[in-house]
Amino acid sequence: PYVNTKDILEKASKEGYAVPALNINNLEFLHAIIDAGIEENAPIIIETSEGAIKYAGNGDIRRGAQLFVSMVRAFANTVPVPVALHLDHGKHFNIIMEAIKAGYSSVMIDASEYPFEKNLEETKKIVEIAHSVGVSVEAELGRLVGIEDNVVVAEHEAVLVDPNEAKEFVENTGVDFLAPAIGTSHGAFKFKGEAKLDFDRLKKVKELTGIPLVLHGASSVPEDIVKLAESYGANFKGAKGVPSDILKKAVKFGINKVNTDTDLRMAYVAGLREFLTNNPGEFDPRKYFKTAKEYVKEVIKARMRLLGCSNKA
Ligand code: G3H
Ligand code: 13P
Ligand code: ZN
Repeated sequence: PYVNTKDILEKASKEGYAVPALNINNLEFLHAIIDAGIEENAPIIIETSEGAIKYAGNGDIRRGAQLFVSMVRAFANTVPVPVALHLDHGKHFNIIMEAIKAGYSSVMIDASEYPFEKNLEETKKIVEIAHSVGVSVEAELGRLVGIEDNVVVAEHEAVLVDPNEAKEFVENTGVDFLAPAIGTSHGAFKFKGEAKLDFDRLKKVKELTGIPLVLHGASSVPEDIVKLAESYGANFKGAKGVPSDILKKAVKFGINKVNTDTDLRMAYVAGLREFLTNNPGEFDPRKYFKTAKEYVKEVIKARMRLLGCSNKA
């Protein structure tokens, strides 16, 4: 069934596990996610960025948002596990409105680049509109930059979440989920040295807000996938993600939604390269996407098990 993201995440927060939120741009990733969720009997959160909506609509945002809702609903209505569709990093009022109107389960208002007060006001405005039609809302505090070994403490602390601000923010906006910046960053190159996150901050944010928390930039960039892709010609030199043990710790301290895009993209391209290299005569996309979809599904299943949401559907 198609559900509100809030239903999935409040259960996760109460029971102390996390659910991966998986980015899609097209049909093939959706197939892999749905199959993984069914095989793991896990709740499913699918998310699309503003860029994904533009891409799917071939430049038209309304068309893109409607297309994703139709696609996801068609699967959600016919599978036994709960499925939610979320707008990731909504930065433009019109795109957030189109997502709500099209029928997204939840939206993110990402005003994290603005000063605290403006972030709070923007978020509050979206919460009022979204809640009036039963759509839940995520917001972000602090900015996403990796903690680099050679950066002085004061410099990186300035961009991480302030737990007291988080409390004030949640109380004043009524936001349903919060993404606190604790040291991750987007993409395949997250850490130059050792990976580390600010768990003390995370613990405090959870204590002071009590709501489901979101980790952005949470891909692990699995070594076996990187090696496989590179053995078929890719070059991902210096790629480094959030190691599994660190993710597990983040869940223990209060993370319930683990945003994952890069890992899926990497698994997909590894499978695609492998298939095309081994089958130079193939030109049917339903066949040459097969290995790619399989690898994406396996990466998701491993993540569901790691985060503790298998058999929590
Ligand atoms: O948070 C960013 C996601 O990974 C998607 O980004 O669709 O804008 O490339 P993008
Ligand atoms: P990754 O780039 O680590 O997959 O992060 C994705 C993300 O945060 C989407 O919002
Ligand atoms: Zn993100």
